[in-house]
Amino acid sequence: MLGTMQFRTHLTASSLRNGITNPASFRAPPLPAIVRKSKSRSGWAAFSAADAPIATFGREERDDARDSISLPPGLRQEALPKHVAFIMDGNGRWAAERELPPSAGHQAGYKTLQLMVELSVKWGIRVLTVFAFSTENWLRPKLEVDFLMTLLETALKDNLQDFLREGIRICIIGDSSKLPKSVQEIAAKLEESTSNNSKLDLLVAISYSGRTDIVQACKKISQKVKNGVLKVEDIDESLVAQELETSCAALYPYPDLLIRTSGELRLSNFLLWEMAYTELYFAQSYWPDFGEKEFVEALFAFQRRQRRFGLRRQTIGVNQP
Ligand code: FPP
Repeated sequence: MLGTMQFRTHLTASSLRNGITNPASFRAPPLPAIVRKSKSRSGWAAFSAADAPIATFGREERDDARDSISLPPGLRQEALPKHVAFIMDGNGRWAAERELPPSAGHQAGYKTLQLMVELSVKWGIRVLTVFAFSTENWLRPKLEVDFLMTLLETALKDNLQDFLREGIRICIIGDSSKLPKSVQEIAAKLEESTSNNSKLDLLVAISYSGRTDIVQACKKISQKVKNGVLKVEDIDESLVAQELETSCAALYPYPDLLIRTSGELRLSNFLLWEMAYTELYFAQSYWPDFGEKEFVEALFAFQRRQRRFGLRRQTIGVNQP
């Protein structure tokens, strides 16, 4: 049952301390108390029967369902961001404050991500892009990198049925060639199996760098020019956008809202091309502490913004281009 679905990845701080990074090699030990605190949160897109308006996710059903979406009071459906990007920052500090290793912070952060997906599905947000692992993160201690890779792999693998049931389409962006073979395989399988889903696109940036993505797009375009498939004068913004990894979010490839947690005020090489007109929101909470209340606050802040896209205010609708 979705409503009773438990947190599906059982990598724990103690397993990491004991050098266990393979989830197959141990049996669901109890989560550290601090992590267990929020264990009642359900799966990727789980909500109770009472507030679940959606049974199937074909386009018609989805539009019907959107009419019955119950948003938190005061939020306006028509002014919700279609695409929200998250820089999930502060896992390490959250863990350090509890004298836990960084892995415990990532594990707790994974639960926050589950909640964000759940709420986004429920409220009708169409695309989430989350920064799970940057190219720079490869330079972290091996134990932490191994933990994160195993967490990603297990999370992707264990939630396939939920993604399918909830109409979530998965797209992994970033330099997948650097990932362990097993992660590459599960990523490819997940993208293939969920490709017809249309309720929510979940773009997971792993081994991702915004600059590298722009460079690889330039290379692809140059190659086409070299092969005579394309003329230099045909190169425009939409062509560049098509070659970026985020083009997998075909309908809404550019985030309307970026939320970065933990009080840091940087983009950190995330979605550099795509965020030209994104509204930026910086939350003080560490990512594991970012909950429904904080998400709603961010959405209210977004709805108070006047997005002008370089135009005069009266020529465009609020929050819409
Ligand atoms: C940044 O916090 C966070 C990360 C490098 C990893 C984020 C990954 C998750 C939340 C798990 C996601 C899981 C899936 C399945 C996508 P930090 O460690 O840099 O925090 P700090 O700045 O406090 O040290």
